[in-house]
Amino acid sequence: MAIEPSRSDRFSFGLWTVGWRAQDPFGDATRPALDPVESVRRLSELGAYGVTFHDDDLVPFGSSDAERDRQIDRFTEALRETGLVVPMVTTNLFTHPVFKDGGLTSNDRDVRRFALRKVLRNVDLAAQLGASTYVMWGGREGSESDAAKDVVAALERYREGVDLIAQYIVDNDYGLRLALEPKPNEPRGDILLPTVGHALAFISSLEHADMVGLNPEVGHEQMAGLNFVHGIAQALWQGKLFHIDLNGQRGVKYDQDLVFGHGDLLNAFFLVDLLEHGPVGGGPRYDGPRHFDYKPLRTEDIDGVWDSAAANMKTYLLLKERAAAFRADPEVAEAMAAAKVRDMAQPTLAPGESYKELLADRSAFEDFDADAAGAQGYGVVRLNQLAVEHVLGAR
Ligand code: GCO
Ligand code: MN
Ligand code: MN
Repeated sequence: MAIEPSRSDRFSFGLWTVGWRAQDPFGDATRPALDPVESVRRLSELGAYGVTFHDDDLVPFGSSDAERDRQIDRFTEALRETGLVVPMVTTNLFTHPVFKDGGLTSNDRDVRRFALRKVLRNVDLAAQLGASTYVMWGGREGSESDAAKDVVAALERYREGVDLIAQYIVDNDYGLRLALEPKPNEPRGDILLPTVGHALAFISSLEHADMVGLNPEVGHEQMAGLNFVHGIAQALWQGKLFHIDLNGQRGVKYDQDLVFGHGDLLNAFFLVDLLEHGPVGGGPRYDGPRHFDYKPLRTEDIDGVWDSAAANMKTYLLLKERAAAFRADPEVAEAMAAAKVRDMAQPTLAPGESYKELLADRSAFEDFDADAAGAQGYGVVRLNQLAVEHVLGAR
């Protein structure tokens, strides 16, 4: 079966993903630098529709204004040539040593002001390129020692920063939405807003909470031992799934950024099922880009880089096809009915009923047979096994 990605699948990649040269704490880069223009062309050939970037991926830190203009012009020309779009842009507030204690939450106020200026300058570029989402990943917001960071004050500064960026977007009528990307730690420090839940709670404190949502990443929730599908479901339910970073991770450890599906495959299956088909009982759907934030393995040469980019999309499409078969399978429907999965969509109280009627309903309590209800089987293993068999192509 030929599975070919096309523009309508809305796959996008960060320049920093295919462009990663595979340097790590123990070893040098194993690949040469990639020209962003080359990445645009290759991603387009492979069937992606979009490309995303940090300011410094496109224009090296410290470049002159003339050099910056030249790089932006070349990039814009490549976009025009290929038809690739820029759905999302973000800021690098982590690579340069100036950010070693944080960007928006560095203890040094001058660094915080510099970080804000760096973001605002790149927000202008994001708007100019027609992006609709601006991601904020706080890789250095946090600390490696509890002695050296006033976390309460840092959260105030974080809020101050996000509010200011949001206000700038509103005042310039840029139509961008902000998407915070949670992550528990990287590589040694603990990061502020470590999970989807923390970030959602933080957003509720913001002045422009309506225009701030999330960019959750598969591996980041899994680094914290959490169920990514659950996190995504809650973000959807709260109207906050603005963007998504797809990749793979094997268990609770450092960030692996594997190819999508090359970690917890079954969780990836249920993720694609949720993204493509929405909740079983209906409800909010995700309609944004399917964005891959992965790193090609260190073992790969440049051909391996493009193979790995293609692998992300192919795995996604295969899981999409498997999820459609799962949903269409009458035995799955029957097993779902036995497990009462769809019954969840029914409100617990009848229309117009209040706790008064509930208290008066003897069948709900006095006459309710808790032992019988406790003895019933839901057949969850059977349903789960059907999913496994669909994933394995056995059905
Ligand atoms: C990581 C992060 C980053 C962010 C990117 C966008 O773990 O390195 O996932 O790749 O997604 O910085 O802001
Ligand atoms: Mn990551
Ligand atoms: Mn990411």
